[in-house]
Amino acid sequence: MKPLLSMKGATIRFGGLVAVKEVTFDIRPGDLFGLIGPNGAGKTTCFNLITGMYQVSSGEILFGEDCINGARKLPPNKICELGIARTFQNIRLFGALSALENVVIGGFLRSRSSLFSALTLMPPAIKDTRALEAKAMEYLKVMDLEEDAHTRARDLPYGKQRRLEIARAMATNPKLILLDEPAAGMNPQESEQLSRTVRRIRDDYGKTVLLIEHDMRFVMNLCERIVVLDHGEEIAFGGPDDIRNNPKVIEAYLGEPV
Ligand SMILES: Nc1ncnc2c1ncn2[C@@H]1O[C@H](COP(=O)(O)OP(=O)(O)O)[C@@H](O)[C@H]1O
Ligand SMILES: [Mg+2]
Repeated sequence: MKPLLSMKGATIRFGGLVAVKEVTFDIRPGDLFGLIGPNGAGKTTCFNLITGMYQVSSGEILFGEDCINGARKLPPNKICELGIARTFQNIRLFGALSALENVVIGGFLRSRSSLFSALTLMPPAIKDTRALEAKAMEYLKVMDLEEDAHTRARDLPYGKQRRLEIARAMATNPKLILLDEPAAGMNPQESEQLSRTVRRIRDDYGKTVLLIEHDMRFVMNLCERIVVLDHGEEIAFGGPDDIRNNPKVIEAYLGEPV
């Protein structure tokens, strides 16, 4: 099967620091893929490279057959248009807007170069807001936020804000969805529920999922293939059992439960 996303020796330097060093892995269509590693390992930086926020210093990233970062570097909105959406480690929602409005805007961001143009061009561009809202409601439903549709994003509890970000990412109709620590700050019950929902996003909606997560139980139960980074370098790759028992991984986490 041809990979959906290929990291080919992706490297980025910030001054003297090599934040991501020659990282190479393939994500296949339909993967539930985990990217883990201790704090500062370079995980979020990988997302920033994949989504075009940063340019690689060397190496390249392919999405399907297209080079999106490397010899050719596409801007974030083009990468979004090709079908990659993300959530952020630090939640980024429009706090004063309702949950529903946040998701509707997600659909618009896909084809707009900036949030500003998305917001300013929105009214004339929308002929049928109802159709858009119906679609947005469906994504809210998937994330179990139906009853919160008209609540302001900032008034939602933290766990729900995280789920709302995923609904907004879904609204861009991506092929690949990147989740940066989706279970952070959730209690065990919430994270259990989220795990089932992420699986549904793959099983029922056919999305390929790449997720960063610090909660090991979450990753080990959900992800089928996992890459481990430490100080920007790939130290392990495999299924949950390979990773759990890998001495390099255990050492990198220095006694943290894996
Ligand atoms: N824009 C930047 N400028 C300078 N250093 C950065 C920048 N972004 C990330 N870094 C550094 O790169 C390293 C990896 O960061 P990050 O990818 O956020 O780690 P992780 O998500 O694995 O915790 C850290 O040392 C961080 O300080
Ligand atoms: Mg991070």
